[in-house]
Amino acid sequence: MKVCVVGANGQIGKQVVQLLKESGEHTPIAMVRKQEQVASFEGLGVNTVLASIAESVEKIAEAISGCDAIVFTAGSGGHTGPDQTLLIDLDGAVKTIEAAEQVGVKRFVMVSALGANKREKWNEAIRPYYVAKHYADRILVESDLTYTIVRPGGLLNEEGTGHVELGENLTRNTIPRADVAKVIVAALSEENTYYQSFDLVSGEIPIVDALKNVKGD
Ligand SMILES: NC(=O)c1ccc[n+]([C@@H]2O[C@H](COP(=O)([O-])OP(=O)(O)OC[C@H]3O[C@@H](n4cnc5c(N)ncnc54)[C@H](OP(=O)(O)O)[C@@H]3O)[C@@H](O)[C@H]2O)c1
Repeated sequence: MKVCVVGANGQIGKQVVQLLKESGEHTPIAMVRKQEQVASFEGLGVNTVLASIAESVEKIAEAISGCDAIVFTAGSGGHTGPDQTLLIDLDGAVKTIEAAEQVGVKRFVMVSALGANKREKWNEAIRPYYVAKHYADRILVESDLTYTIVRPGGLLNEEGTGHVELGENLTRNTIPRADVAKVIVAALSEENTYYQSFDLVSGEIPIVDALKNVKGD
């Protein structure tokens, strides 16, 4: 599959691009928003599209046109305020969903956050972030797209173990970004994850087995 990674220059995004490239099955297209980010991907032999999810649906549609799948791993980050949470994490995600529907990019893997599906699990200090994730996920579920919503726990910059726990309502825990990236890439063509949403933390089960048996919500 030709897979457009939205948020390709991010910490998970870069690892997803690398894994897609190594997969022999997929071809990554890195969506980046700054000209100076293009060269490092082209140096790896990865094609890029220059676009921002702050732009119009039409601009995003133009950028993703011709792809078979989207991995959405963009985010405004913890250093910006609730305005960017609304504009990027919520509206940027929804515009990408609308753009995918417009140009017929059917497969969509969303990086959400653990507990985003349950208000009682939202951390009071970053409640607006969970609101954004929650409603972006709900709009994806209601779309025409073949979605998978991955809700990882706290992200770590550690080596991956290749072993995870997936489920509908997991206790809050952590996971290396490397393992989140592996789950995303493995999920792309694992039909058992189609129309599924699940929490994701480190665990004991090899990723491929966990995805084959996932029972999300
Ligand atoms: N931190 C956690 O513990 C945690 C837990 C669960 C889920 N998550 C979610 O996991 C995802 C990825 O996390 P991460 O650590 O890889 O994040 P990250 O390193 O901050 O990467 C986010 C990427 O989004 C890009 N981005 C921001 N605004 C954009 C725009 N307008 N248009 C296009 N791209 C834009 C950034 O681009 P630039 O490189 O140009 O800045 C960056 O490359 C996020 O959705 C986050 O909410 C995080």
